[in-house]
Amino acid sequence: MSFKQFYRGFLAANPNVQHYACHSHHYWPDVTRDAVLRYWDDSARLVDDKWEHILGLEVPAVQQLIANELKLKNPAQLVFASNTHELLFRLLTAFSWNNGLKVLTTDSEFHSFSRQIARLGEESNIEVVRVATEPFANFPERFVEAAAALQPDLVFVSHVFFNSGVAVPDLTSLVNTVAEACKATIAVDGYHGFMAIPTDLSSLEGRIFYLAGSYKYAQGGEGCCFMLVPEHNNFRPIYTGWFAEFGALSAAKSGAVQYSKDGYQFAGATMDFTALYRLRAVLDLYQQEQISTAQVHQHVQSLQQHFLQSLDEIAHPWLNRQSLLQNFQADHGHFLTFRGPSAEAVAALSQFLATHQIKTDYRGDRLRFGFAIYHDIDDIKLAALKEA
Ligand SMILES: Cc1ncc(COP(=O)(O)O)c(C=O)c1O
Repeated sequence: MSFKQFYRGFLAANPNVQHYACHSHHYWPDVTRDAVLRYWDDSARLVDDKWEHILGLEVPAVQQLIANELKLKNPAQLVFASNTHELLFRLLTAFSWNNGLKVLTTDSEFHSFSRQIARLGEESNIEVVRVATEPFANFPERFVEAAAALQPDLVFVSHVFFNSGVAVPDLTSLVNTVAEACKATIAVDGYHGFMAIPTDLSSLEGRIFYLAGSYKYAQGGEGCCFMLVPEHNNFRPIYTGWFAEFGALSAAKSGAVQYSKDGYQFAGATMDFTALYRLRAVLDLYQQEQISTAQVHQHVQSLQQHFLQSLDEIAHPWLNRQSLLQNFQADHGHFLTFRGPSAEAVAALSQFLATHQIKTDYRGDRLRFGFAIYHDIDDIKLAALKEA
């Protein structure tokens, strides 16, 4: 089945482009255009009553759709913000920074976390241990050993690493073994996993924070990220806005700031919900058309296999199977990462490919090719590489 019919707008605006940067910025399905208009229409129609409608109907609908996707029982534990940085900063302010906060993470976390934690470490009494993700084969064992040795307060780890596409082989088992080794709060950056790799959080619900958003595989565009918050935590994030006071409030000492009892405990303040409308439109489309993440994953895997076979035929000096960061595996993320001979060589090849309408992206000496459901096998045309 071709899924292209759902992406006519973006495909028509980019004729002849081979878009391999979808792991960064996915094309948006046509239903998202209607969603933007629906937001405008709701704003015009409801004016002052808009917030009741959005917070009372739209937000719960999206919480439920995300909960269905991640197999969660309690959708109210999901809170929204414009980006994951805002959400994880709220989480960081739930800890005391001056009493020797210990953080266990990896050397492959996205900048929203890695830059922030590095900067905080300059000011405060924060110890950060970064476990190398390579060699990938024994990463889980080394990570758990580090957890046992450090006894961290916070563990922050990606489901799929942004700089390799490598997925933690079994997220549930990693969380379980880390939780046996230490008493830390565990937070998972799920951005490259959400709606790419089928993810069942049912046995982790109530035990982890999980962050993801709409810009990548969820295809709603920028501006709608979410965090799953475990129930019954006693956190009082310092970075808090008035949305965090919605609904039933937790008991607090008299005069102390109170927090929502659900995920809104970690909320901020007024935001533009257009992106949430777009995300809802995509999730509704998937539901109506019965498109599952498992199906998308399978489609992408076959594209990846075909891409590698095409590369075999081209026999480029370094853009080949041998330079793949990890041999393609079943639970690999939706982009393939090749290590080039140098950052300059990688940048030069990416620019050369762009002149042939082949859009990729790169990080240092790593060139990334992403695949999406709006690609078909016939779209993969790599002849230009013969001249590179
Ligand atoms: C693993 C990961 N997390 C988070 C993000 C997005 O971060 P933010 O929403 O803070 O811009 C990205 C973006 O590329 C990412 O790759």
